[in-house]
Amino acid sequence: PVDVRVNDLLHRMTLDEKIGQMDQISVVNMQGDCQWSGGAFTESCMNDVLVKNAAGSVLSGGGAGPSVNTPENWATMVNTVQQYAVTHSRLHIPILYGVDAVHGHNNVLGATIFPQEIGMGSTWDPDLVKAEGASAARSVAATGIDWNFAPVTDIARDQRWGRYYETYGEDPLLSGTLAAAAVKGIQNAGGAKDVAATVKHFAGYGEPGNGHDRVPGDVSLRYLQDTLLPSYKQAIDAGARTVMVNSGAINGIPATASHYLLTDVLRKKWGFDGVVVSDWQDVRALQTSYHVAADYPEAIAKAVNAGLDMAMEPYDAQGWSDGLRTAVQRGLVSTRRIDQSVRRILTLKFELGLFEHPYVDASKADSRVLGADTGVARQAADESQVLLRNDGGVLPIAPSTKKIVVAGSYADDINDQAGGWTVGWQGVPDGVTLPGTTILQGIKKAAPSGTQVVRPSSDADAVAQARDADLTVVVVGEKAAAEGAADSPRPELSADQQQLVASLKATGKPVVTVVVAGRPLVLGDADGTQGLLMSWLPGSEGGNAVADVLFGKVNPSGRLSASWPKDIGNEPLYYQQLPGTNSGPESSYDAAYPFGAGLSYTTYGIDSIKAAATARTRDTLHLTVGVTNSGDRAGDLVLPVYVSQPSSDVLAPARKLVAFTRVHLGAGQSRSVTLSVPPSELAVTPGDIDGAGPQQVAPGSYVFTAGTRTATVTLR
Ligand code: IFM
Repeated sequence: PVDVRVNDLLHRMTLDEKIGQMDQISVVNMQGDCQWSGGAFTESCMNDVLVKNAAGSVLSGGGAGPSVNTPENWATMVNTVQQYAVTHSRLHIPILYGVDAVHGHNNVLGATIFPQEIGMGSTWDPDLVKAEGASAARSVAATGIDWNFAPVTDIARDQRWGRYYETYGEDPLLSGTLAAAAVKGIQNAGGAKDVAATVKHFAGYGEPGNGHDRVPGDVSLRYLQDTLLPSYKQAIDAGARTVMVNSGAINGIPATASHYLLTDVLRKKWGFDGVVVSDWQDVRALQTSYHVAADYPEAIAKAVNAGLDMAMEPYDAQGWSDGLRTAVQRGLVSTRRIDQSVRRILTLKFELGLFEHPYVDASKADSRVLGADTGVARQAADESQVLLRNDGGVLPIAPSTKKIVVAGSYADDINDQAGGWTVGWQGVPDGVTLPGTTILQGIKKAAPSGTQVVRPSSDADAVAQARDADLTVVVVGEKAAAEGAADSPRPELSADQQQLVASLKATGKPVVTVVVAGRPLVLGDADGTQGLLMSWLPGSEGGNAVADVLFGKVNPSGRLSASWPKDIGNEPLYYQQLPGTNSGPESSYDAAYPFGAGLSYTTYGIDSIKAAATARTRDTLHLTVGVTNSGDRAGDLVLPVYVSQPSSDVLAPARKLVAFTRVHLGAGQSRSVTLSVPPSELAVTPGDIDGAGPQQVAPGSYVFTAGTRTATVTLR
């Protein structure tokens, strides 16, 4: 059994070997001359990191990988690092190799790139998210990797924050359900090796105080318990083997040093027994940025005593070893606490099968695995398209259309549509073009033979061409970037793009706007075209997916996972507004398109919702909803059920998502579907400001709403 093997190893390990296991080092920073360039690492640096400092884990952080772009080279590189660790470390302990494959294998050319999480959020389709996670895991496993730093489980409600696009959106239940599905997909992928998922960034990383990345957040215990923590919990309950800590601070305590978050909540309350890793250099940041520690050993002690198992200390294996050893010598960290973390790390390595199978067959790391799932990626991109406007039925494009103009710089840029954490952490680096289909290419492929597709040479040409076109599709957007680089006080469409769309509108000809971006953007002068399609960052199949929807091959089914602001200045913006005295909750929610919005080419009716009239507060409730496709096209209906309370001790939002499903309905078909609402979805933190207690379901009246139908349940 694993625990026997772990104990046996632990007994034979020196303190320095144990300390090393708790360090994760970046492959590109394995001491100066260690950079992999298709050749070999030098003996001296491999020895320094993997033997002298006995590092337990290596990462290719954020796509900042070595200049190894083919999958086979990747596998060879990881095998090389692994082989050195296994062969030369005294006890032959394999390393854990981690990457950020948040929407496909992010770090290699040729891998299928899925829509970014915010788009996957708009599918409301856990099965699809699971399939995406499994595909990403098979891709990374083929290249030797056993740890994927995904899914991002943070709730994002402030669109100024540049990492908005990496989340599943603003709603706790939607995010948690999809993150749980991603965990299951990643960890049960059936690839070349087992892969561990990571619930990140625990907790409250999506709560940047002023819209900037990693700015401390201040939240009430009620907001933390009722809104921020549930999505992490759902993903952890799905069996996630690891957790990555929020780089930010919550209520004045850096999460990396928060005993409350890392031990009281995560371990004691939720029973998590996997590995907790810091984010990039965050233990050091306790000293150098947050100034909550006088020196590095003190910073290490704070993090380890809070509950951290592994430090992403990418540059300095020696510094980590010296620092933790000094902390032990000063009596700041006990060897018992170190044993506890090392036990968790070794358990993970055994459970992943690394001791038995540390290597992969590099000759199998190619498009047979990394490109195998373009069908799933296309379905994901299809389902993530959100049709927000379709005045006069401008879409789907009529087969009789003679001339379509495709304008806008985002129409023909595969790299932009692939988003961030793709080959490079800030998106595809200059000089590299990702394989895949652009929107222009997709439209050209899908257009009927009698339809001319024109790509103008400039914005001025686009306006001139639009004058005698039947339709203009203008593709606008925003580039995704990571960790601060995309923070913006003005999440809006750029002035030149607004101008282009305004000029196209002024031609009086029909215009459909397609937005390629990781967050809803205030459209300004670009608002008001006949068609509006939110494409998000749809990945390598994005061009085909946009064309599928434009030409009606696919009936759009995506629904906004995030509220779309009407105006700059309305951040944070989210639908779960609490009531106030100057405005009702809905009127203080000033969205151009609300959470859950999305049109289709058919019409659905929500005919009824039924539930038992009374139940106990500890019961799971079952709601039966009757739905009909009253139009003449088959389609997938995303069916959300919201709860409200006529009266409650603690403020309740006008609506809160408590269950959802996706129902396929043929033209004219009716169905009845049953959704479950566990007590956890109704539980809230009771009490006044000074006495907020653990979550409870309050007795009383609860109104469940599907469409315009309601069912009232009295809980006793
Ligand atoms: O996993 C990421 C994290 O999301 C942001 N900082 C770097 C980590 C490793 O690349």
